[in-house]
Amino acid sequence: MAAPVVDAEYRKEIERACRNLRALISSKNCAPIMLRLAWHDAGTYDAKTKTGGPNGSIRNEVELKHAANNGLKIAVDLCEEIKAKHPKITYADLYQLAGVVAVEVTGGPTIDFVPGRKDSVVCPEEGRLPDAKEGVSHLRDVFYRMGLSDQDIVALSGGHTLGRAHLERSGFDGPWTYEPLKFDNSYFFELLKGDSEGLLKLPTDKALVEDPEFRRFVEIYAKDQEAFFRDYAASHKKLSELGFNPP
Ligand code: HEM
Repeated sequence: MAAPVVDAEYRKEIERACRNLRALISSKNCAPIMLRLAWHDAGTYDAKTKTGGPNGSIRNEVELKHAANNGLKIAVDLCEEIKAKHPKITYADLYQLAGVVAVEVTGGPTIDFVPGRKDSVVCPEEGRLPDAKEGVSHLRDVFYRMGLSDQDIVALSGGHTLGRAHLERSGFDGPWTYEPLKFDNSYFFELLKGDSEGLLKLPTDKALVEDPEFRRFVEIYAKDQEAFFRDYAASHKKLSELGFNPP
């Protein structure tokens, strides 16, 4: 599909959609699933073949049915309400905007948003998103395939400061932090503390303290929220722009 024309009118529409997303996300407390939607649309990127990535393809039934995307229809449907009000905006832009707004309204850093992503109806094959039951080398395989670094892996995993796992969606259960609607660095200090009553740690979360290179960043982010916010904003922007050449 063609890239949208990013003129003054498109930018205004993005601003309006941003306001509507803020209202929707605050009233429905759906920041976590909106962030997960943005990440799962983008995280299929393959740098070698330049396929997948933040292109809105996750809205298609085939991709939505991939096991990793269980539950994300809720977020796709919520975004449809915004799309109906702002039909000009591509799904690809809309989902990434929703991710940026989700982080912002829960108290996280401001993430620079550049519009102009093209939509695609081509779904990547299943299996490109990380498997939570795996460990260090799997995480590196998946994120390096996207063209991301060790630091990006750790900073982005901090997205688990929001939300929770649902038994019926992933087979895992519970939140990572005691305030799952607040974007802060608590994911990292809970990770360093080890097992805590009522909190979840996926095998892939634990991998971040097992590997010395990953752990270095976990220790920094657990101590220094500003450093986490700065690096998270940069890594999130990279994730949201995989394969995208801004106009
Ligand atoms: C939820 C796996 C990285 C954001 C989940 C769930 C799993 C998972 C299994 C639970 C889904 C459910 O049962 O509802 C992973 C793995 C990752 C990863 C293996 C590899 C590092 C990320 C990244 C972000 C992110 C990079 C964002 C930057 C979220 C959010 C939720 C979530 C916000 C909560 C959703 C909700 O409350 O409905 N993730 N994730 N995850 N993930 Fe990740």
